[in-house]
Amino acid sequence: MIVLGIETSCDETAAAVVRDGRETLSSEVYSQASRHAPFGGVVPDLAARCHVEALGGIIERAVAKADVAWSELDAVAATYGPGLSSSLLIGMAAAKGLAFRLDRPFIAVNHLQAHLYSPFMGAGRADFEQACPFVALIVSGGHTLLVHVSGLGRYRVLGRTLDDAAGEALDKAAMLLGLGYPGGPVIQRASEGGDAQRIRFPRARPRSGNPFLKGLRAECCFSFSGLKTALLYYMKEHPFANDSDRAERLPSIAASYQEAVVAALVDRCERALGPDATALACGGGVSLNARLRAALTDLARKKGVPLYLAEPAYCGDNAAMVAALAGAGQGRRGPEAMNLDANPVLDVSEF
Ligand code: KG4
Ligand code: ZN
Repeated sequence: MIVLGIETSCDETAAAVVRDGRETLSSEVYSQASRHAPFGGVVPDLAARCHVEALGGIIERAVAKADVAWSELDAVAATYGPGLSSSLLIGMAAAKGLAFRLDRPFIAVNHLQAHLYSPFMGAGRADFEQACPFVALIVSGGHTLLVHVSGLGRYRVLGRTLDDAAGEALDKAAMLLGLGYPGGPVIQRASEGGDAQRIRFPRARPRSGNPFLKGLRAECCFSFSGLKTALLYYMKEHPFANDSDRAERLPSIAASYQEAVVAALVDRCERALGPDATALACGGGVSLNARLRAALTDLARKKGVPLYLAEPAYCGDNAAMVAALAGAGQGRRGPEAMNLDANPVLDVSEF
């Protein structure tokens, strides 16, 4: 089964062609980051306009690079949530229109479930079902959550952030330090050669009894908003005196901040790994972070469980994970999918 996938939930405009849920024939991603950079974050209306501009060309390139005829496509899939509603609608409208024109089914895919699938994509990777049951960390600019996975389509949320996502915490810190956008890669670069132990930023853990936990265990949940405030106060109390002071101190500030984010993520993964999970998986844009990858590798070794880290091409938002999941039989399809609306607040366990 050959599926054309489309992803437009946030600020990546992406299309991909995947065979049988496993073999990526093409994967085109246009990052709008430079268009949003002047504003320090994603501007929803601008994101939607950029998708309109770019999507047609991206779809044509994905199909051309896959070297398949339009008539060889067996289905057209698109993300229907969660994400920015105006952006989701553009990918969905394009996918529905193509599906109608090609007389093929439209498949609506949950973006978070696609991230869960991404660590198992690529040549020679483990099989999703065989890796179950496992704990997955999805960590991106918009999401930070821990999920227990017992099979394809069988997901139980263990924990989530009660405020900012980890990527958002990095993006806001980079803004505050004048490093630009997106923050994750620039903080990682700025932290090179720095001392990650120089400043002890808080590893804020939500307290049990917090009403936002809504039944989740506090020790599996995250809170990053206090971390960003801690950096704000640190910089107010210890401003850079001049350029050479900045050059000397910035690497350690960035490294210490990055360490606080990574330590929080790894600590919750450790707590989430119980006897009912035999492996750990991680995907999402922040899983590109070298320090996080190293720390998760150490944790998996310590716990004696296999670790499935998404390959770099499948960490950030991409359409291959959407097409792959649809090709693996997941997602809503059939006539009812054609009438489906975008769902900006779709949860990982919803279909
Ligand atoms: O998955 P993604 O492309 O989009 C969302 O669904 O949000 O993730 C984007 C996030 C941004 O917050 C960006 O700063 C972060 O991933 N990111 C990183 C790195 N590369 C991207 N964070 C830490 N280290 C990186 N190397
Ligand atoms: Zn994402």
